[in-house]
Formats: sequence, structure tokens, C-alpha cells
Amino acid sequence: MSGAATPETATDVEKQTDSTVRYIHPRVILMGILVSMGGFIFGYDTGQISGFLEMSDFLDRFADQTDADGNPAFSNSRSGAIVGLLSIGTLIGAIIAGPIADKLGRKYSIILWNIVFIVGVIVQIVTTTKWYQIAIGRWVAGLGVGGLSVLTPMYQSETAPRQVRGALVSCYQLFITLGIFTAYCINYGTEDDYSGAPQWRIPIGIGFIWPVVMAVGILFLPESPRWDYRKGNVDRAVNTISKSYGVPETHQQVVREVRDIKAKLDAETAGGAKHHWYEIFTGPRMLYRTILGIVLQALQQLVGANYFFYYGTTIFTSTGLSNSYVTSMILGGVNFGTTFLGLYVVDKFGRRKSLITGALWMFVCFMIFASVGHYALNRDDPQATPSAGTAMIVFACLFIAGFASTWGPIVWAVVGETYPSRYRARAMGIATASNWTFNFLISFFTPFITADIDFAYGYVFGGCCFVGAVVVYLFVCETQGRSLEEIDTMYVLKVKPWKSSKWRWEDDLTAQNMVSLGPEARQAAKRTEQAQERREVASGEANGVERGEPSNAATATR
Ligand code: BGC
Repeated sequence: MSGAATPETATDVEKQTDSTVRYIHPRVILMGILVSMGGFIFGYDTGQISGFLEMSDFLDRFADQTDADGNPAFSNSRSGAIVGLLSIGTLIGAIIAGPIADKLGRKYSIILWNIVFIVGVIVQIVTTTKWYQIAIGRWVAGLGVGGLSVLTPMYQSETAPRQVRGALVSCYQLFITLGIFTAYCINYGTEDDYSGAPQWRIPIGIGFIWPVVMAVGILFLPESPRWDYRKGNVDRAVNTISKSYGVPETHQQVVREVRDIKAKLDAETAGGAKHHWYEIFTGPRMLYRTILGIVLQALQQLVGANYFFYYGTTIFTSTGLSNSYVTSMILGGVNFGTTFLGLYVVDKFGRRKSLITGALWMFVCFMIFASVGHYALNRDDPQATPSAGTAMIVFACLFIAGFASTWGPIVWAVVGETYPSRYRARAMGIATASNWTFNFLISFFTPFITADIDFAYGYVFGGCCFVGAVVVYLFVCETQGRSLEEIDTMYVLKVKPWKSSKWRWEDDLTAQNMVSLGPEARQAAKRTEQAQERREVASGEANGVERGEPSNAATATR
């Protein structure tokens, strides 16, 4: 599929509507898949460890105690260190990824984090008997996973055509789930077919493939056009946008996008001031948005999906299902399969409706799961209450389907598109670090909490799901189909989130609003108005986009 033909006349340009870019260009699909390898690495690495802890050779080499039958076993502190150091690494990786991405660019940062991950894999695979070498290797690999968990959605949301941005970033989640599922399957295969070190060295070794594919593949993809534009590589940025939309550089969509990027950059550089990191809290409407990102990512963990992914085996053993591999395969399979639904709903129904519906769905599932587990299941002898056990498995799967099609992918998409370019890398880094912090806390505290309140723990997650629905209703703007620059304007103008899907900037610029808005919001409104005026002029121009190097002659000042 090639793009629309180059327009010959003004009328041709006018005819260019969004419909000419409604298909997804194969180049964009390729980009989606390749960059989503960052998600695969994330999923593969987090998915493989629970299997390792049960492998006989891994236990023989690294365990620090014996169980009642005299078999090697891990103490909580040692298994906690092996599992948890990855999360600590990811947390640090996510925080430092932002500033590095602003300096090095998105593309070369992706290569860097893949190399870091590979170093972590090497440290682990050459380990013979030292458990702490495995733990340190996981910490290093975690740095890479954390960096990629910021870079992947960032690169995708900065490069994707607006019509499919949600679906493309959701591809990242699809690959996380595919990574988890693949790790489960490979662990199952090697545990069954091998004895000795290959049991765990083969899955770790296969882990080399994904970062090599990603790091080499990204060399053939362009740099993020938004980063390029900010660094003065204007021609390249315009070219990348036109290629990702699959239309000529003169197309109205490309003109519009470039003009919006320019307007924002001009406004930022007009002040000429040096920018400080803390502006992610003090910049226009940034405190609101930074906190929103942190809360959404915390809630993405607190809705409780990892309760099932990390402790599914234990949970289902206590409901009477004893084959841990079957459990993992069921959960991993449902998770992967239903993420496809997420790719569809995010751009079909928008972020708000999908997240609110998903949160309420997960709330209901957890309420039923927790009530059956707490009141109906015979926890001492689960076989005596088989229907309770079955109901719990069904509602766990329904929960996972709800998570995988909404909160799993869409939170990554929303966080990738909520911040303006200047703050995006750092703000996304902090929000992603919040995800990893709560990921770690849930993995660490779940065994203790479950020991105290058994399945009533599900009420805690259910409550968080409900809070998630309220937070989205009150604070998240609908961003479906809007450019990143338009989204920024919407937040700066303090558009009411529950009215945001119907919001049109034209309606907001009434004299009444202009007076009641603060100076920053007024300037943002002005910028949007000017950008729109230029778009209209541009759609009458047959000679294509006026590129305009970023200049200090600001179209508006902040
Ligand atoms: C979450 C992970 C989770 C995974 C499950 C991701 O979006 O951030 O913590 O394990 O989804 O598919």
C-alpha cells in the first residue's frame, strides 16, 4: 500500500482528509513489531524466573536450605533477592532512561538499553554456583528492562500516526504477554527434557535473541521525529512523519503535525530559559499530569494482575488445581489472547470508556473471586468444594481478560501521550518507575498478606479497581485520534476530562473562556488557534509544507 499521490493543485490538497491515512502502512506495522520487542524482553525476563526457582538443577546450585524431605529449597530472603533485584534494576533503569533519551535520542538509547540487558544475561549465564551472581545479573538485566519500558512506548507514541497510536503502543503490551507466555513454555520444555544446567541456561541463553533482533532492527528505523525536530533535524523529522502516515510530505496530515510540533517548540524556546528537571512538576499543568501518570501506573499494578501472574500457582493449588504448568499456561494464554482485543478497543472506544469499563469489570471479578475464596471454598480441603474452585478459576480468567484488553495496554498508551515533548522522557520515566515500585511491593508483600487474610486480599485489589474507574473518570482526558500537541493543549486548557471526548478547541476559545483562563492557558489556546489558522492556510497551499526551522521567533510565548 503506498501513500496518496502527490497533490498537483490546491484542490487536491483540500481533498486530502484523514481518510487517506486511515489504513496502517506496512512500515508502521513493522515498526510496531520491532520496537515492541522491548515488551517481549520485559515479559520474557519477568516470566522466566518463577519457573527457575522450581528447577532441580537451579535448586541444587543456588538453594540455601533444605525442606522437610531433605530436598534443596530457597529461603524467602534468597528467593526474594533473586526475584526482587530485577525490579530494583528496572526502577533505576526507568528513572535514568528519560534524561539519557533526551541526550542520546530515542533510537540510540534503545540500542544502549539492549546492550545493558545483554550484559545482564551474560552475567547470569556464566554463573556456576554463586547465587548472588544470578541476582546481580538480574539487577543489570533489570536496568535494561526498565530503560526499555520507558523507551518503547515513548518511541512508539512519538512516531505513530495519531489514528493508530493507541493500538501501536498497545502492541507493546501484546509483546509483554507474548514474552511471559513464551518464557512459561520454554521453561516447561527445558525442565521436562533436560537435566543439569541446560534446564535454566537454555531459557536464559534464548534471551539473547530478542535484544539482538531489537538493537539491530532499530538501526533500520528512523529516529523519533519529535526528538529529531527538537534537535534541529527538521527535514528528517518531516520525512519520518510522512513515511509513517504513508503519504507525501505535502499531505495535510503531515503539514498539520509538523506545524503543531513547531508551534510547541517555538513557544518553549521563546523564553530562552534553561530548563530544569523539576519542571516536570512546575511546568504548565505538569504537576497534575506527572501525578496522574504516577497514579495510573501505580493503579495498573494495584488492580492486581500480578497477584495471578506471580502467585497463580500457589493460588490455584489451594483451590485444588495442582499442575503448576497447566495453571501458568492457562493464565498466560488468556492474557496473550485477550490482549488482541485491547488493540481494537483502545482506538475504537477511546481511552476513557475502555479504562472505566475495564476497571468496573475487574472490580466485579475480584469481588466474586474474593467472596467465593473467603466464604465458599474449603481452604483446608479444596477438593471438598470443587465448584468453588472452578468458579475462582473462571473469574480469575475473566479478570485477566479484562486487564489484558484495557488496563494492561491502555495505561502504557495514556502515559506515552499525556506529556509534551519537552517533559515526556522524564515524566514517563517517573511514572514507569511507579509501576515498577508497586510491582515490587506486590510481589514482596503478597505472601505475607495472603497468609494473614487469605482470599479476602482480593477485596483490596477490587477496591483499587474501583478507585481506578473513579480516577480515570475524574482526571484522564480522552486522547483518541488527537495529536500529541493537541493533547497537551487540552490539559493546559483544563478541559474537563468527562467532557474531553467532545471537546473541540474552537468551542473553548469563547471570550468568556479566554478571560477565565490563566495566562498560560490563554497562551496555549492562542497557539492552538494559530496552528489551526496555519493548517487552514496550508490546506490551500499546493506547494506543500513550509518547514520552518525551529526559531526563537515564537508564535506564542508561555
Ligand atoms: C504490567 C506487568 C504485568 C503484565 C501482564 C504489564 O502491563 O505492567 O506488571 O505483569 O502487564 O501482562
